[in-house]
Amino acid sequence: MTQTTTPAPIDPASIPYFTLSTGDRLPAIGLGTFGSDAVAPAVVATTVTEAVRAGYRHIDCASVYGNEGQIGGVLADLFAHRVVGRDDLWITSKVWNDMHGRVGASCRKSLQDLRLDHLDLFLVHWPFPNYHPPKCDVTMRSPDARPYIHDAFMRTWEQMERLVDEGLVRHIGTSNMTVPKMELLLRDARIRPACNEMELHPHFQQPALFDFCAQHAIQPIAYCPLGSPGRPDRDRTPEDTVDLEDPVLTSIARSAGVAPAQVALRWAIQRGQAPIPFSVNHFRENLAAALLPPLSASAMQAIAGIDKGCRLIKGQVFLWKDDQGWEDLWDPDGTITPA
Ligand SMILES: NC(=O)c1ccc[n+]([C@@H]2O[C@H](COP(=O)([O-])OP(=O)(O)OC[C@H]3O[C@@H](n4cnc5c(N)ncnc54)[C@H](OP(=O)(O)O)[C@@H]3O)[C@@H](O)[C@H]2O)c1
Repeated sequence: MTQTTTPAPIDPASIPYFTLSTGDRLPAIGLGTFGSDAVAPAVVATTVTEAVRAGYRHIDCASVYGNEGQIGGVLADLFAHRVVGRDDLWITSKVWNDMHGRVGASCRKSLQDLRLDHLDLFLVHWPFPNYHPPKCDVTMRSPDARPYIHDAFMRTWEQMERLVDEGLVRHIGTSNMTVPKMELLLRDARIRPACNEMELHPHFQQPALFDFCAQHAIQPIAYCPLGSPGRPDRDRTPEDTVDLEDPVLTSIARSAGVAPAQVALRWAIQRGQAPIPFSVNHFRENLAAALLPPLSASAMQAIAGIDKGCRLIKGQVFLWKDDQGWEDLWDPDGTITPA
């Protein structure tokens, strides 16, 4: 008889979750689906199938990742074979920057591609409406690039709110925001963001924005939770640090007999953020990290101490003037960077 080396799936009921302000439950770990331009859409889609079969229930998608059609195909197959039902899954998608004026059309296209009748979460991917072509160099600037304009963002947000009214999305949220932008949104929104997707990993902990979200019952979702070791060259600078080689993480991992990536994911969940690691080769061990015993208070404190403020996704292509540094996108002095 042939032996299988595939480990038994994890019982999805055992995976921790975060309770949102709406009372709904967000699975505390999800699968990212951005293949960093290097992993083909069909490979990402196959990984989604295997990941769901392995126990994942939360999939982080976006129209700009260019693979929602392929992911929709495998989701339809999983439903048809009764591996999971639609209500068992949490599916996120995002409106890309060139569709801020046509949010409804963007959502409907994602639903069509994903072959779903609703999304669990729909995010405004970036607060800037600036278009740049996929895979472009970070020096690329759009001639139409604009700074953050709150009135324009609220017009986009009102379209997001209408999608909730229409029943096409269950929750709406933000991504790549800052505290001052969030303050304005909370002041003016009819429907508040349930989640904020933000870059979060041990070397980039964003304590001020993280605490702001916690205080306002906005669930942080952590992108690049492992420090995005496979990110494209355009998103690398010489100053970037490598989370998974940090001696604090590797030492905790060695003592616990687990991988440094698993420590990063366990830390994330224990801190209160939902990591969405992308992985073709390690997704089972990543899911298992959610079930590891809690890290000790001293290990949590040690990881809190390795924050290096090392932002990896700097967003240079969204800059609206030639002589700007990428920091301007992130409102470093606590006020929105003026035009
Ligand atoms: N909202 C936004 O603006 C935004 C921005 C960026 C990303 N995201 C989302 O966040 C997701 C995750 O971000 P990311 O993909 O940039 O970064 P990441 O999840 O931190 O890193 C992914 C990379 O880590 C490797 N990896 C995964 N598990 C590992 C493990 N246990 N040990 C060693 N290496 C491991 C993967 O390689 P293998 O495939 O070989 O495992 C892959 O190259 C994206 O896929 C996307 O869904 C959102």
